[in-house]
Amino acid sequence: MDCVVAIDGPVAVGKSSVARRVAAALGIRHINTGAMYRAVALKLMRLRGDDPNVDEATMVDIARNARIDLPREGGVLLDGEDVSDAIRDEQVSNFTAVVADSAKVRDILVEHQRRLGADEPSVLEGRDIGTVVFKNAALKIFLDASPQVRVERRVGQLRSKGLPVNREEVFQDLLERDQRDRLRPTGGLKMADDATLIDTTHYEEDFVIELICALVREHPCFQERLVVRT
Ligand code: DC
Repeated sequence: MDCVVAIDGPVAVGKSSVARRVAAALGIRHINTGAMYRAVALKLMRLRGDDPNVDEATMVDIARNARIDLPREGGVLLDGEDVSDAIRDEQVSNFTAVVADSAKVRDILVEHQRRLGADEPSVLEGRDIGTVVFKNAALKIFLDASPQVRVERRVGQLRSKGLPVNREEVFQDLLERDQRDRLRPTGGLKMADDATLIDTTHYEEDFVIELICALVREHPCFQERLVVRT
């Protein structure tokens, strides 16, 4: 069994914030796998533009040779450069879906994720953590929420960045991303059979974090390895 907390779920459900805060509360590592796909997409765009017909060999070459680091204090480094903000750009988000469709790129990033997670107790978040990356994770959580609530969360994120918001466009975009995530033949979004489903539609984030931390703390795999905080 891998001493890993696998958190999967659809776009705008709040995975990153929950995963980051759970990891901080437990004093363990947070690994945002979406940031890795985004970093590959960014590097590809810088070299080739965002042509969706880019050949797979180029994508694979970049995925294999890019140095992607996820520092403990947060963010993501691409070949040593801090690209934490650059990877959140809307164009990069769109292009990341193309990169994530490549099974060969996924194989390379999944290997990287397994190495990181095997090093020490970690919280990994993404779409395929419980189904592909760590099938033997000690704890698997699938976060979900109604599309309406996810739209509101996304609207809140955009507003906090001072970006213009059109609710209808946000809604359509979310439905398209959901569809693409679920239909991806390799690593598509799917709840693992042995995952715990947490529908966060009516829950505050603090409550969700408390819930996951309680599940982690009572698991024997983590009891032996968590830092005891007084
Ligand atoms: O979680 P996110 O929005 O940062 O993910 C960015 C993209 O990467 C999105 O298109 C889904 C994809 N992704 C994936 O296919 N598998 C993962 N484990 C994580 C993200």
